[in-house]
Amino acid sequence: MELVIVDSYRELSLRAAAHVAALLRRKPNAVLGLATGSTPVGLYQELVRLHRQEGLDFSRVTTFNLDEYWGLPDDHPASYHRFMQENLFGLVNLRPENTHIPSGTAENVEAECERYEEAIRRAGGIDLQILGIGQNGHIGFNEPGTPFTSRTRVVDLTEDTRRANARFFPSLEEVPRRAVTMGIATIMEAREILLLASGKEKAAALAAAVEGEVTPEVPASVLQTHPRVTVLADRAAAAGTRRLAV
Ligand code: F6R
Repeated sequence: MELVIVDSYRELSLRAAAHVAALLRRKPNAVLGLATGSTPVGLYQELVRLHRQEGLDFSRVTTFNLDEYWGLPDDHPASYHRFMQENLFGLVNLRPENTHIPSGTAENVEAECERYEEAIRRAGGIDLQILGIGQNGHIGFNEPGTPFTSRTRVVDLTEDTRRANARFFPSLEEVPRRAVTMGIATIMEAREILLLASGKEKAAALAAAVEGEVTPEVPASVLQTHPRVTVLADRAAAAGTRRLAV
């Protein structure tokens, strides 16, 4: 695991975008795994800038998002479909048919999850998976206690996660109690992983993930067993780690 510590959220975003852009220049038909939430917003802004000002091309890129709230229609203001449309998909030349997000409203959810896994396989697997980390150490919506063998499925969100995400909803009551998420085994099949962490709220989870025991109680700790992981953290998020050096 390579741990890169930078001074600010802006630097984290620029470095993350440079990492993605280098891959797309090397492999224009790359398959990206994408995350939502606050952390990757700066990364997506910089990718949009690189597209508009430097011609970074997404026309052959395929994307798979980690997760979606269960029960939210695609056009709900807090859905991850909407988030991706507003932060990236609608702003670069990705082809809509090449972007994938689990459906939060499928009638047959098991079939939807299997279809999602199959679509990843058919695309040739994920080249680079972008991850954020929850304050409780979750990746995707794989909450503490999730088996490392888990695959795409519907999960219950913890109250911690619902509270942490309540800022995107009018009230805590409206935060969905369930989500569809790629599993830990699905995430671990990505050929490369870039984990982003920003802010002091993430310090304890990040320290446990990169330096603690590898345990399902800290889902992100599984990344210690992946051959190609870069952790990109700002100083506040890295404050709990012992390796406070670039
Ligand atoms: C989002 C996701 C989550 C977030 C995590 C951190 O697609 O899968 O694991 O990455 O909850 O969220 P933020 O960045 O909002 O702190």
